[in-house]
Amino acid sequence: MKNIYKNSAQNFNKAKKNLVKNNIIAVPTETVYGLAGNAYSNISVKKIYKLKKRPSKNPLIIHYYNLRSLKKDAYTKHEFMKLYNKFSPGPLTYILKKKKKSKISLLANSNLKTIAVRFPKNKIIRKLLKNLNFPLAIPSANLSSAVSPVSSNDVLDEFGNKIKFILDGGRSRIGLESTVINLNKKIQILRPGAISSKDISKVLKKKVSFLKKTNKLISPGLSKRHYSPGIPIKLNCTRMDDKAALIVFGKKYKSSKNIFNLSKNGNIKEAARNLYKTLRKIKNLGFKKINVVKIPNNKIGIAINDRLRKAAY
Ligand code: TXA
Ligand code: MG
Repeated sequence: MKNIYKNSAQNFNKAKKNLVKNNIIAVPTETVYGLAGNAYSNISVKKIYKLKKRPSKNPLIIHYYNLRSLKKDAYTKHEFMKLYNKFSPGPLTYILKKKKKSKISLLANSNLKTIAVRFPKNKIIRKLLKNLNFPLAIPSANLSSAVSPVSSNDVLDEFGNKIKFILDGGRSRIGLESTVINLNKKIQILRPGAISSKDISKVLKKKVSFLKKTNKLISPGLSKRHYSPGIPIKLNCTRMDDKAALIVFGKKYKSSKNIFNLSKNGNIKEAARNLYKTLRKIKNLGFKKINVVKIPNNKIGIAINDRLRKAAY
């Protein structure tokens, strides 16, 4: 399809060339698809904010191939090293203190003293990072506050012809954005994801909890409304509204045109992988509202419920 490029050797080189020329391309990651640009270039970063219609005070995550490339830009501390050794590459984003000498565009981190960094695991994006001599700023490839894309077609659905190059990597394996952990000053989870607070607490040998109230200074991007398909959503439903699309989880629900099961087997990882796909589908089918049954609030279910709450806000 138009603008979507299979991951062949030739297309990989095209992707690379686009990035070197400060163009923005869409790329697969194991969490969600992202819009990638040279994190050292003001030109690239400006383009990203413009495409996403993202407020400039909401900083981007900088994606690296390895530790060596990160060390030019951020201070690595003890807790970071412990988590890095366990979880990276993977769906964990660290907030670290930025080095003064760092070449990261000041726009990319909204001129903060910190930067968010991640080492993605998806093979395609890792190979790109390995072959570039700059890190990539990669926010999720959706318009600001909309549902994140988990396939190349979703990116097309979101941006149409505005993104000329979408590198295809199939469905995102996890389907929800990375866990974000603040390691600068107080250690706190700012955004839940596939790696849970329990997983993290175990490695750090201390309890790490969620940031309770949204503190604009700590994470400017954690606005209350986000991941929204643009129609009203009601959570923890036991009875169904007339004409609503119903999102369910588990065996006990029968199939019907307006029932969307996140996982018939009651598998919470599968539910996470299907969440954004389902929200996008329901919206595109023209439903005017969504009802969601109670989704188990453990493991990645915590992240599912976090996204649903924000989508419903
Ligand atoms: O899984 C992911 O992390 C995906 C894929 C594409 O890698 N990316 C992603 O990026 O979700 P984005 O831009 O949609 O979300 C970045 C989040 C926002 O909530 C932002 O506010 C927060 O990270 N963030 C970025 N820099 C920060 C900083 N210096 N301090 C606190 N929060 C920061
Ligand atoms: Mg996002």
